[in-house]
Amino acid sequence: MKKITIAIDGFSSTGKSTLAKQIAKKLGYVYVDTGAMYRAVTLYAMQNGFIDEFELNKTGLIESLSAIQLSFQFNSELGFGEMFLNGVNVEKQIRTLEVSGFVSQIAEISEVRSMLVKQQQQMGKDKGVVMDGRDIGTVVFPDAELKIFMNASPDVRAQRRFDELTEKGQLVSYDRVLENVLKRDHIDTSREDSPLVKANDAIEIDNSNLTREEQFHKVLELAEKEITKSL
Ligand code: DC
Repeated sequence: MKKITIAIDGFSSTGKSTLAKQIAKKLGYVYVDTGAMYRAVTLYAMQNGFIDEFELNKTGLIESLSAIQLSFQFNSELGFGEMFLNGVNVEKQIRTLEVSGFVSQIAEISEVRSMLVKQQQQMGKDKGVVMDGRDIGTVVFPDAELKIFMNASPDVRAQRRFDELTEKGQLVSYDRVLENVLKRDHIDTSREDSPLVKANDAIEIDNSNLTREEQFHKVLELAEKEITKSL
């Protein structure tokens, strides 16, 4: 069976990763969460004094990029690869609101982007991959056979994120989560290097009023069509 590349881009908290994981599992493809890689670099910057409450030491971080080793290690219980930073499982630490609050600033740095894009292209070079992020269909794999662009209203996204964080036991207010969603939208869409935009050939899905099942079936159908086409 011929394998294709599936790029899933879109705004934060649109459920990209849940969908991407389901599709990858169904097709037996590798799932790559590129947001986790930007988050891990952010965590590294926080742990190594490149970020304090007010400032980001961009030059210092850029000079240290070669000391950052990222890898995904497959967890068979969870069914996907967990993010490891320099040999340590950081899957939980990278999902906090603190990391979310800084990650867009880290993702603006061109040197960070080019390092991560190269690694992502390497991970997907043999196809059979579902990759989610912001620039997968535009920069990482502009030739992907299937490109999905996910969207939902900011309120719906903030509520989803809030539910997710409170479920994990993190004490946050809805207003703070909404503020973070809006701030990230702004930075992600207005940054100079690889801003979040829908690729011309991407299929847009607004899932404000769609169930997970409905989205899954829609994207699976599109993927199967592309796989048949490429035979
Ligand atoms: O998907 P996420 O919320 O985990 O992504 C975290 C941040 O990383 C997001 O605010 C933008 C950035 N990002 C990016 O710029 N490019 C990607 N391919 C993936 C994420």
